[in-house]
Amino acid sequence: MGKKIRTETIHYGVDPDVHYGSINDPIYKNSTLVFQNYKSFLEAKKDRFNVPYYGRISTYTTRRFEQLGSKLYNAKKSVVTSSGLSAITITLLALLKKDDEILISENCYEPVYNFATYELKKFGIKSHFFSNNKKNIDKIINNKTKILYIESPGSLNYEVSDIKEILKLCKKKKIITIMDNTWSTFLGCNPLEIGVEIVIESLTKYFSGHSDNFLGLVVLNSNELARKIKTTSVRLGDYVSPESCFHATKGLKTLKLRIEKHIESADKIFNYLKSKKIVKKILYLPDQKNKFHELWKKYHKQSNGLITFSIHKKKNIELFIDKLKLFKIGFSWGGYESLIIPISNLKPTKKLSKKSEYWFRIHVGLESCSDLINDLEKAFKNYEK
Ligand SMILES: Cc1ncc(COP(=O)(O)O)c(C=O)c1O
Repeated sequence: MGKKIRTETIHYGVDPDVHYGSINDPIYKNSTLVFQNYKSFLEAKKDRFNVPYYGRISTYTTRRFEQLGSKLYNAKKSVVTSSGLSAITITLLALLKKDDEILISENCYEPVYNFATYELKKFGIKSHFFSNNKKNIDKIINNKTKILYIESPGSLNYEVSDIKEILKLCKKKKIITIMDNTWSTFLGCNPLEIGVEIVIESLTKYFSGHSDNFLGLVVLNSNELARKIKTTSVRLGDYVSPESCFHATKGLKTLKLRIEKHIESADKIFNYLKSKKIVKKILYLPDQKNKFHELWKKYHKQSNGLITFSIHKKKNIELFIDKLKLFKIGFSWGGYESLIIPISNLKPTKKLSKKSEYWFRIHVGLESCSDLINDLEKAFKNYEK
């Protein structure tokens, strides 16, 4: 992200001349939007996705947010949705129909696996899951394949897809590529610039950053596909709260600074974990020994606060996890606070064996890093004593 666009995002949503001197855009909250007269009502009806029409379709606030999304990804179009997951499910439902097939990287976040396996199936859409480790994707592509969906890096095991290789295949066969870019955010990677057609980011995570907001963003350069996605979101009744856009815009102002701190502390914690004998394996992309390190560097400009690790199975795991005070047990990531979550699989298609190790994902928050290390140290000691 260049200096110019960074400054623009800091000042985005600032229009004091229009808004009574207010430094931030106010929240426009309305279900009903009124029309000046019958003619303007009829005109609005024809162009309802682009002009004020009904609050569930858009408000001033949600529209401003979509303009912001396009700016950040340098995209022609963006559609904002109520959550990261709804951005994914709406996009897939909009672009797939009965008898179509979809390829999904098997490191996807589990709700995507469940949506494809149980919900898309009801509509006669077949899902195939592929591994980033194997170069056999072309073998599962056929003339029914409409979409190839990747989450890269994956949010549990950090597997990275070789985007350019995937694109070579998909372009030839006119398959639409979709990438979940939540791990990197627009700051770390712009898949649209590499050639991916549709990019999705859960703004619930780093973008909003305070564990109090849900929002999803779809960005793309095709007017036609954007219209299809928006149509499906309206038909399904997805509602984007203007407050959510306000919170996300606020999160954006400090996003870069926060991510820098998450990265700095995660590096220290990675080194600390490496020094512990009780820690068996660590998955962390900046680790030069990580299998996906080089591929990650090829496409991504920065890391974040996520680390996955396992510890040798010796005792009851509660002795470790319940002793932690700063790392709270909880879902999600990207907020200001440190979190830990026990995991039973690194990809939805494969359960982990608990015979010899316990697996966890931590999100390194913005607390003092030495306090976080002390917290882990006390918990390890309690587990090992
Ligand atoms: C990689 C990834 N994409 C999408 C989502 C969904 O985001 P949301 O919680 O906003 O629905 C998540 C949530 O954990 C995620 O980890």
